[in-house]
Amino acid sequence: MPWIVGVSGASGTPYAAAVLRALLAAGESVDLVVSRASRLTLLDETGIAFRDSQWEGDLREWLSRGADGKPDTFDVDISGVRHWSAGDLAAGPSSGSYATKGMLIVPASTAAVAGVALGLSKDLLQRAASVTLKEGRKLVVAVRETPLNGQTLRHLVTLDDLGATVVPASPAFYAGATHIQDLVDFVAGRVLDVAGVEHRLYRRWKGDLGGARTT
Ligand SMILES: Cc1cc2nc3c(=O)[nH]c(=O)nc-3n(C[C@H](O)[C@H](O)[C@H](O)COP(=O)(O)O)c2cc1C
Repeated sequence: MPWIVGVSGASGTPYAAAVLRALLAAGESVDLVVSRASRLTLLDETGIAFRDSQWEGDLREWLSRGADGKPDTFDVDISGVRHWSAGDLAAGPSSGSYATKGMLIVPASTAAVAGVALGLSKDLLQRAASVTLKEGRKLVVAVRETPLNGQTLRHLVTLDDLGATVVPASPAFYAGATHIQDLVDFVAGRVLDVAGVEHRLYRRWKGDLGGARTT
């Protein structure tokens, strides 16, 4: 069964790339939904124009990029990815009878947070998230916005009440980060921790203060 990965239009497309790479490296299959708005953030952050008609080449290019949006050395096999157009409300993940392990929204915009909390289903990403909740499957929401207004905070509480796990895209500094990619990988790793997917994206806390600086 696949994980649905929903990429919405918040800043933070490197978080999505890190999650996708790690899922594929772990042998997981992925159903990918890239919102219309996220194509703007992806273009802004990487220079890549994501096209439904050429998604394989565009995705390969995207996943080869590092946190700074520049070409890196990542070599990713995307054969485990199935892409669904964000406007396709007849897609598999639109129905609860389509079996999945759950859904990761990375990054999650405040608009996506609102849409899922209110059950709007305005596109496939929001519909798939509502389906994930109604089927009692795991939903992880990596919200990226700052500061947060009361409206978004209330929507996040609603999502938590409905059974989703909110993972703010806020990197920690105890894991010995030396590059931007380390900070990105920390957030991606915490998303995968909640999903229960094994990874080696960050150095876990071992109870030794300052340990990350000495090892
Ligand atoms: C360059 C850029 C950066 C953005 N960054 C954020 C962000 O960090 N968080 C957020 O909630 N919205 C952000 N937005 C606004 C969302 O893209 C917008 O609310 C959009 O409607 C989200 O739609 P979606 O949830 O369907 O993807 C950004 C927009 C642009 C163009």
